[in-house]
Amino acid sequence: MIAVILGTRPDIIKMSPIIRSCEKNGVDYFVLHTGQHYSYEMDRVFFEELGLPAPDFNLDVGSKSHAEQTGLIMTGIEKILKKERPDVVLVQGDTNTALAGTLAASKCYVREGSSQPIDVGHVEAGLRSFDRSMPEEVNRIVADHLSRYLFAPTEKAREYLCREGIPDEKIFVTGNTIVDAVRETLFLSKKRADTLRDLGLSCDSYFLVTLHRQENVDNKQRLKGILDGLAQIHERAGMLLVFPIHPRTERMITSFGLKLKGFQIIKPLGFLDFLQLESHARLVLTDSGGVQEETCILNVPCVTIRDSTERPETVDVGANIIAGVDPVSIIEAADRMLTCSRSWKNPFGDGKTGDRIIKILTPM
Ligand code: UD1
Ligand code: UDP
Repeated sequence: MIAVILGTRPDIIKMSPIIRSCEKNGVDYFVLHTGQHYSYEMDRVFFEELGLPAPDFNLDVGSKSHAEQTGLIMTGIEKILKKERPDVVLVQGDTNTALAGTLAASKCYVREGSSQPIDVGHVEAGLRSFDRSMPEEVNRIVADHLSRYLFAPTEKAREYLCREGIPDEKIFVTGNTIVDAVRETLFLSKKRADTLRDLGLSCDSYFLVTLHRQENVDNKQRLKGILDGLAQIHERAGMLLVFPIHPRTERMITSFGLKLKGFQIIKPLGFLDFLQLESHARLVLTDSGGVQEETCILNVPCVTIRDSTERPETVDVGANIIAGVDPVSIIEAADRMLTCSRSWKNPFGDGKTGDRIIKILTPM
């Protein structure tokens, strides 16, 4: 039996192809939701739109400090693993949910006649920003080093893992499940012709912005600099900055009392609407990991408002540029990406990653 552990917006989206593959192939599995994300537009909307069954368990952990959130998730997961005794636990990406799932399973000794703990499979293994001040980098390093199965999206991710001494036989280059999720959902999303119209937008006539990284939005000077740079991009191009705002960012902008110019602020969107906005944007400016991948898959140019990326493949193919957070460098990066050719090839696989992972875990 497979335990699929998820808890945040990107976990739900990126685990959806794996859940679908379990359903299609009659694989015994259950879904454990940690409740790290819980607002309707960060959680339930994705289950509804992606046609996923409701989670079998929900820990309802909610928002907490890193240690408290991780500890509560571990305690809740351990209880369920002891009862359900899965053969393998799957975690995704670099969230506190992935960290806690990995740690709890790695010390859960429930296998009949064996002194080994439950195996962990890390989906999206081997990503590195090489910046350990990011909570995500810490989480993904721990998850990689404790996992039995490392599902690396690309050869580069495999190389990083090998360099850290992880044995090659644990690593499987599978592609990234985001390609499956985008392809499976794009058709449905295209039927939503209303997304742009409802927002008063037309194709290629707006910039799409997402921001939520702790290091960007929890620091007043840094966030102000980013918002000023974006406002200048709006002034120069005369195009609106459409900004589906992450709850963390909304909270910080309010508490810092920052003023926004040139933005059309909207609530976080479901995946169908967001894919529409993303695929028709003139340019996307973001600090999101998943959005860097999706723009690359959709052949839409991307400017990453960070000092590093753990998705260097997007930069290598010419789809993305790492701008830093200084207003001048964000403006220069936007200018460069506005004139780039959009003919790159998607480096994240063929859209069959979910099936590939399930096949590795359930041979025969
Ligand atoms: C988390 C992940 C991050 C990931 C992001 C995806 C960690 C350390 N961070 O960051 O890697 O990129 O999810 O979006 O795991 N909030 C709500 N409703 C929700 C969820 C959050 O209002 O459903 C607000 C709360 O004020 C909360 C804040 O957002 O304090 C941050 O939430 P949290 O889950 O701690 O971190 P994210 O920034 O979402
Ligand atoms: N996303 C969404 N609605 C939004 C913003 C993002 O559906 O308003 C999706 C986006 O398509 C991508 C995922 O959320 O698949 C990225 O999540 P996020 O940026 O929160 O986290 P990260 O990928 O940086 O961990």
